[in-house]
Amino acid sequence: MIDNKPSLWISGKLVGLLILCSSFSLSLIILMKINIFKAPEQQKINVNELAANTGTQQRIEEFKGAMLKLWQQQAQVKGFSDSIPSSFQSAIINAAKLSPSQKVIALTFDDGPWPESTAEVLDILRKNQIKATFFVIGQNVKNYPALLKQEVAEGHVIGNHTWHHWYQFLNPQAAAYEIDHTEDIIYQTTGLKTNLFRPPGGIMHNGVVDYARNSKYSIILWSSDSIDYSRPPVPKLIGNVFREAKPGGIVLMHDGGGNRSKTVQALPEIIANFRNQGYRFVTIPELLEMEDKNQRLTETKK
Ligand code: NI
Repeated sequence: MIDNKPSLWISGKLVGLLILCSSFSLSLIILMKINIFKAPEQQKINVNELAANTGTQQRIEEFKGAMLKLWQQQAQVKGFSDSIPSSFQSAIINAAKLSPSQKVIALTFDDGPWPESTAEVLDILRKNQIKATFFVIGQNVKNYPALLKQEVAEGHVIGNHTWHHWYQFLNPQAAAYEIDHTEDIIYQTTGLKTNLFRPPGGIMHNGVVDYARNSKYSIILWSSDSIDYSRPPVPKLIGNVFREAKPGGIVLMHDGGGNRSKTVQALPEIIANFRNQGYRFVTIPELLEMEDKNQRLTETKK
């Protein structure tokens, strides 16, 4: 027994060592696995590049940019922004056909991005936790790309509103340029594709709508026009919005293309009034998804 003690002691140590070794290698494996799993994300954020820069502000900006890129990639995977039910491809939509009890409304903002007013609209929407839909003009995206990135980063939906916002007749080549060039810059700026189109001025027969429908865009018009482009007094602007307000409705406002201070002033009250009436706010894809769901439900009941 006495003789066995040292060997027992040694084997005990050996077992301990073995356990230590195996747990160490196990944790190594786990760490490696985590690294392997995280590798693509880390590549996207590009930590090395971030560390190389010394300016704090620049690093913050780069980090924000990297996070945005990551968010956009995730959004693409999830199919955000471009997930329109196929029944709405090439369709012309003024409002969603919903039941009166489905009290939802879609706020839409056209002609941006625009200095000051777009950021002010975004502030109000953020404070009220509302997601809206922005129909952007290509040349404004080119001039103010950061604002478009902010719209996407804050969860809003982007639609195509042509490059120049021209009203005149456009031959197929010109119409293609107006829509495709805008589609390209939205993609280059945000990594997102949209299949929502709103014709400038709501003009249906100058060539752009034909091209957009052939390209499978949903043509999104509106059911409630704020007429904010004519800069009416704030109470009148609000009255315009509510005159035709209804469940499934689409409200037309402008965050760009001119002085939009009246729209910015009116927006908090518009939001409050809708909420008092029991409405909640949805994006255009969410609105179309609701109508699609209704249709499918009635089909299964038949
Ligand atoms: Ni417009």
